[in-house]
Amino acid sequence: MSDLARISLSLEAPLLEKLDSMTKEHGYENRSEFIRDLIRERLTSEQWRLGSEVLATLTLIYNHHQRGLTEKLVELQHHCGEKVLASTHIHLSHEICAEMIMLRGTGNGIKALTDAVRRQRGVLHADLSMSTTGKGIC
Ligand code: NI
Repeated sequence: MSDLARISLSLEAPLLEKLDSMTKEHGYENRSEFIRDLIRERLTSEQWRLGSEVLATLTLIYNHHQRGLTEKLVELQHHCGEKVLASTHIHLSHEICAEMIMLRGTGNGIKALTDAVRRQRGVLHADLSMSTTGKGIC
């Protein structure tokens, strides 16, 4: 971690109360740690907004008995232009599968892939966890 700098901050009393209750609720030792993480969260969402390179995990729940779906999901990943770093497939039941796909690329490209996957018949749920490569948030 780089050298620490101290700042002072002015907040309205009700906002400070909310900050302190959230700090406690989430189990942080002190306000500084909580505020650092809030800033990192904002920096990560700015990376998604500004088109920087980001990291994401797409979780899918789908019915593999749906005709042609498995092939279509593979094809979409091959042609999306984003980098598929890893994927894990779990057979949840006789017909339902879960898949976690880790992606690296632009936020817009990853969101477009998520939408394309979500639109497929037989995909029951698609959830995108939006993260960062870690660059620029330390
Ligand atoms: Ni399966």
